[in-house]
Amino acid sequence: MSTTVDELREEVRRRYAESARAVTDGGGGCGCGSGECCAEDASDGAGFGEALYDAEQRGELPDAAVLASLGCGNPTAVADLHEGEVVLDLGSGGGIDVILSAKRVGPTGTAYGLDMTDEMLALARRNAADAGVTNVHFLKGVIEQIPLPADSVDVVISNCVVNLSVDKPAVLTEIARVLRPGGRIGISDVVAEDRLSASERGERGSYVGCIAGALSKGEYEAGLTAAGFEQVSVEFTHEVADGMHGAIVRAVKTLEPERKGLPVVQAAASAGCC
Ligand SMILES: C[S@@+](CC[C@H](N)C(=O)[O-])C[C@H]1O[C@@H](n2cnc3c(N)ncnc32)[C@H](O)[C@@H]1O
Repeated sequence: MSTTVDELREEVRRRYAESARAVTDGGGGCGCGSGECCAEDASDGAGFGEALYDAEQRGELPDAAVLASLGCGNPTAVADLHEGEVVLDLGSGGGIDVILSAKRVGPTGTAYGLDMTDEMLALARRNAADAGVTNVHFLKGVIEQIPLPADSVDVVISNCVVNLSVDKPAVLTEIARVLRPGGRIGISDVVAEDRLSASERGERGSYVGCIAGALSKGEYEAGLTAAGFEQVSVEFTHEVADGMHGAIVRAVKTLEPERKGLPVVQAAASAGCC
């Protein structure tokens, strides 16, 4: 019997709720060896989690925020955040990148975290309070339908979440909608080499483990371009499975999409990118 889109999203939500509960109960997130979260399909979890943050950054964070880290990169290190900016973290988990962003943008800036999992939102709010940051807001919702107005965000970051989405064109379209013209993205994600078919990606790991749902480099580039981005780059940083990599994805929302004849919503939706 095939899994529907709704069932797949519910499976993702359930697995990450379990992970949040494990951290809250004093455990170590997904470190239970059950192959159920990002990091567990990679050998020894290499290339995922807290090791991707330097000691100085880890020192700025509550232990539970570090322990809950399930990312495959460090988007705050590449996003070049400035004082006063509005940042949005898609799939904010235990809040690690939101807290770091809030410190970078300072009291005149704002860091939003968006996540669909109640247990993760509760953990993130507690971690932000423990970190003493007040310029943060954690929103409940899905990244395919971002609950923020158009043109309201300077920088969108995300850490190992786009691969989990059941509708990637919708995510890219929504990112383009909420970013101000000229706004930018700094996303860490698992990305496949173009030589791997979708089924070959599925052979290398599970969907909830952040492997099977990964876009290829070419698909990411095409999807972002169709959604109205320019200066698109997808850079592999470390291999997490054969032909699959942690990657940094950068792009800038074009200043004048209409001049390029790009009806943003339709273009991304029909890109067939993912
Ligand atoms: C692999 S974890 C990454 C968490 C965090 N970014 C980090 O680096 O630790 C994935 C997170 O994304 C959330 N998530 C997955 N799919 C989502 C979706 N479609 N909409 C909103 N949140 C989603 C999960 O609830 C979970 O908290």
